[in-house]
Amino acid sequence: MEQFLVDKTQDESRQGEAYAPTHAREAQYNRHFYIESYGCQMNFADSEVVASILQGEGFGATRNVEEADLIFINTCSIREKAEQTVRKRLTEFKKLKKNNKQLLIGVLGCMAERLKSKFLEEEKLVDIVVGPDAYRSLPSLVMEAAGGQKAVNVLLSREETYADIAPVRLDSNGVSAFVSIMRGCNNMCSFCVVPFTRGRERSRDWKSIIEECKDLFEKGYKEVTLLGQNVDSYYYTSTQPDAPVVTFANLLEKVAQISPNLLVRFSTSHPKDITDEVLYTMAKYENICNYIHLPVQSGSSRILQLMNRTYTREWYMAKVDRIRSIIPDCGISSDIIAGFCTEEESDHEDTLSIMRYSKYDFSYMFFYSERPGTLAARRYQDDVPEKTKKRRLQEIVALQNQLSLESNQKEIGKKYKVLIEGDSKKNEQEWKARTSHNKVVVFPKTNLSHKKGDFVTVQITECTQATLRGEIVLS
Ligand code: SAH
Ligand code: SF4
Ligand code: F3S
Repeated sequence: MEQFLVDKTQDESRQGEAYAPTHAREAQYNRHFYIESYGCQMNFADSEVVASILQGEGFGATRNVEEADLIFINTCSIREKAEQTVRKRLTEFKKLKKNNKQLLIGVLGCMAERLKSKFLEEEKLVDIVVGPDAYRSLPSLVMEAAGGQKAVNVLLSREETYADIAPVRLDSNGVSAFVSIMRGCNNMCSFCVVPFTRGRERSRDWKSIIEECKDLFEKGYKEVTLLGQNVDSYYYTSTQPDAPVVTFANLLEKVAQISPNLLVRFSTSHPKDITDEVLYTMAKYENICNYIHLPVQSGSSRILQLMNRTYTREWYMAKVDRIRSIIPDCGISSDIIAGFCTEEESDHEDTLSIMRYSKYDFSYMFFYSERPGTLAARRYQDDVPEKTKKRRLQEIVALQNQLSLESNQKEIGKKYKVLIEGDSKKNEQEWKARTSHNKVVVFPKTNLSHKKGDFVTVQITECTQATLRGEIVLS
C-alpha cells in the first residue's frame, strides 16, 4: 500500500507533554525513543500508535530526552502559536546532537504534513518528517535517516485507521483511555487547517474499536473517550455483503453495552451532525456521560456562513434546546473564535449572547489565526486588528468565567457517582475525578481503602469557576 513507501521525490528536492509508560525506562531495550506531543487528543492517541510501532522495532520509551537515540515531536498546526512552540523545541533538541552524533530527530503530525520536506530544507532541524497517515513507514524511515539520508513520508491515505495496531498506553493513569474511532475531516471550515493535514475522513472498523475497549476494560480501565474530529459522522460499512451499516449512535450503544462499569465519553461533536439517535442513546445508558462538546465558533449567522460551518445561529440554538429536552441534565462546552475575518462589533455581541443562551459549562477560546492554504486565507482578509481580536477574546473569556462559576454554583449540594482518576494535581491528600458533565471535582482521601479506579459518591460542597470541591458520602 502506498503509505509504506518512502517519499524519495520529496526527499530530493497540549502544552507539550513528554511521555513514557509508567516505568520511566524499560530495561529490556537498549535503544530508546523520546516523544513529545502537542495539539489535540487525536495527536496524543497517535503518539501511542507510534510508540507501539517503535516498540515493535526494539525501541523502548524514555522520559529522559538526554538518553534518547530518537526524538520525536508530534506537532499541531491549528494556530500559528502552536507551530512557534514546536520550532522552539526543535532548536533545543538540535543542541543535543553536539554530544550525541547518532541522535535522530523526527517531526510527526500536522506540522509535518503541512510543511512536508520544506522542514528539512528550510529548518535543517530534523532528520525525519512523517505525516499522520504514514506512521507504519517509521521503521524504514528511521533506517534511511540512520544511513544519512533525509527521510520523508507525508502521503495521506484514504484507508489508514491503524485499526490493527494496539496502542502502547503512554503516561496513562491506568483508568481512562482515548480510543480513536475515525481519522481526517471532510468538513471545510474555512479557518481550519485540519482537512489539509489529516486528509479525508474515514471510520475505523467498529469491531476493532469494540475489541480495543473490551481489552482496556479487562485490563482495569474504567473509562474510554471515543475520539474523532467529527464523531457524529462516524459511519462504517463493511466490505462483507449484508453487514449492517454502523452509525455513531450504534457504535456508542455497542461500547456502552460492554459493561455498566465502563464510562463512555466522546469528542468532538459537530452541531450539524449530532442526531436525535445519539441523544436518545446517551439518555438510555447511564454509563454514557451526560456531556457534549459542541463547538459553536461564532454566534453570528453571517460569520458562521463565512466560516462554512453550515448552520445558523438559530439552528445551533435549536440544537441546544433539543439536547436539553432529551437529556435535561447535560453538560455542554464549546470552542469559540474571536475576530474572524470581517467580524464587526455586532457579530461579537451575537457570540456573547449565544454563549449566554447555551450556558456553556466551559469553553476553549481563541483569537483567529490565519492558516496558509485554508479557504479563509485564500478568500478573505484577516482584517480585524490584533488589538480588537484580543479585546473581544478577553470579553469572551470573562463571560465564560462567569458562566462557568454560575454553572458550578448550581452543583453545590448535589451528589455524583464519580470515578477516582488519581491524585489531585495540587494536593496529594485529595483525589481528582470528573462528574458526568466533565467537571473536575477534588475531594479529601478520607477512607484509606479507596484507590484510583474506584467509583465513589461525592457531595459537592464548594466551587471555583474551574473546580468543584466535595466530600465522599454514602450513596
Ligand atoms: N473538529 C473540531 C475542532 C478541531 S480544532 C470541530 O469541528 O469543532 C479545535 C478548535 O480550534 C476549533 O474548534 C476552533 O475553535 C479552533 N481553531 C481552528 N482553526 C483555528 C484558527 N485558524 N484560528 C483560531 N482558532 C482555530
Ligand atoms: Fe476543522 Fe471544521 Fe473539521 Fe473541525 S469540523 S476539524 S473545525 S474543518
Ligand atoms: Fe492540531 Fe492536527 Fe489536532 S492541527 S488540533 S494536532 S488534528
